[in-house]
Amino acid sequence: MSSLFWTNFVYIISSILFAFGLKFLGSPVTARRGNMLSALGMFLAVAATLASGQMMTFQWILIGIGIGAGLGALVAYRAAMTQMPEMIALLHGCGALASVFVDWTAYHVHGASDLTNAITLYLSIVIGGLTFTGSVVAWGKLSERIPGRPILFPAQRILNMALMAAILILGVIFILNTGRYDIFLIILGLSLVFGIFLVIPIGGADMPVVISVLNSYSGVVACTTGFVINNTLLIVVGALVGANGIILSIIMCKAMNRSITNVIFGAFGAAVQKKAAGEKKEAKASTVEDAFLILENAKNVVIIPGYGLAVAQAQHAVRELSEMLDKNGADVKFAIHPVAGRMPGHMNVLLAEANIPYDQLMEMDAINPIMETVDVAIVIGANDVVNPASRHDKSSPIYGMPIINADKAKTTFVLKRSMAPGFAGIENELFYYENCRMIFGDAKQTVLAIVAEFKASHS
Ligand code: TAP
Repeated sequence: MSSLFWTNFVYIISSILFAFGLKFLGSPVTARRGNMLSALGMFLAVAATLASGQMMTFQWILIGIGIGAGLGALVAYRAAMTQMPEMIALLHGCGALASVFVDWTAYHVHGASDLTNAITLYLSIVIGGLTFTGSVVAWGKLSERIPGRPILFPAQRILNMALMAAILILGVIFILNTGRYDIFLIILGLSLVFGIFLVIPIGGADMPVVISVLNSYSGVVACTTGFVINNTLLIVVGALVGANGIILSIIMCKAMNRSITNVIFGAFGAAVQKKAAGEKKEAKASTVEDAFLILENAKNVVIIPGYGLAVAQAQHAVRELSEMLDKNGADVKFAIHPVAGRMPGHMNVLLAEANIPYDQLMEMDAINPIMETVDVAIVIGANDVVNPASRHDKSSPIYGMPIINADKAKTTFVLKRSMAPGFAGIENELFYYENCRMIFGDAKQTVLAIVAEFKASHS
């Protein structure tokens, strides 16, 4: 049997591994296995492509793999958990750039062979170009290398429309005259500029959705590149990544009660400096000792983690607290908001790292109906995802975002360092509610102090 047969055979195996890998990523229980399967699929795909004998400059590929793998390992090793979203943005950007280079090389060496090839080449460099620069801007915003707020200037929309029109018109010219290298380069240049202008007006709070949309684009560009160089595996994998990115974007938009068009064209973050209206009440501060006394008598406790849990790295301390409460006879659940933290599944990952049993984790829709029966809710480093303003304050930037109803519990403790706002930059009215008590301090220290109270009383 020909080497082409075996290459395609391994490609099919790799595609199946990728599909199952993605499927397994859907649950924290199977996510590790999913990652391993996908990595195995990628290893087989690369090995089969190299073994297919079409590679004339093998040593350059190995040098490239060495440099890429080395840099990737270094960046992943050095990135803190809280920097994961910005790292993912950068990786998508690199994927898109790699596809652009492959398309460019294919065009440089072979030109465009027919109409389909010209169209996919055009789509590839446009989507690849804007995904690359868009991802770099998203990375810059998340890592605070450039301002996270929406950057707006006069005639921005007109400029964007003009850029889009130029890219479209030049595209038609290129597809009809595929020998025009100059137009190819101008389209690539304009697409790179367009990516910057597309992302700079978007506020930091919407960046996760933008990153997920860019993730989808990087899949689409891999897919179109697959058509350009006639590689079936790239087409399949690109389509999988493209579809999965768009599904994730839709899930995140639903969780934030936004539409994708609103995120991409709405400059949402512009309104984030709003202060709570009306008469200012005092938030009630409480102590670790008071919290212990109330928790000791609680029959059921719901822990609501947020971004501050990741900052404080309090996950192991929280597991200890949950074990203490359990020993004391309380039923303990963790309420997980879909956009708590700074990336999808952020809380799941942290709690899994601390070996908190999955059956204690409850999604927002499952926990909310029983929040009124809960004795104590402990909000640990969460803020926006428990802000009741989202239910009634139409002027709030988070209006309409579903929240975990921490305010409905009989007593709610909020563990954070100060009265500072969360990601959306707005005050949280929960802190002024009658049943709410603030315990100021680093979340890990506070939780450890409550655990110490339990240990002291039970020794
Ligand atoms: P936030 O609203 O961002 O609030 C986090 C809170 O943690 C802050 O108010 C901060 O208050 C507190 N904190 C920080 N360090 C702490 C520490 N060491 N100890 C105790 N508390 C600490 O977080 P959230 O409730 O998880 O909401 C997530 C927000 O981020 C939403 O607006 C969401 O839309 C957005 N977002 C989500 C994602 C995804 S996909 N998950 C990605 C990006 C953005 P102090 O400074 O007073 O301590």
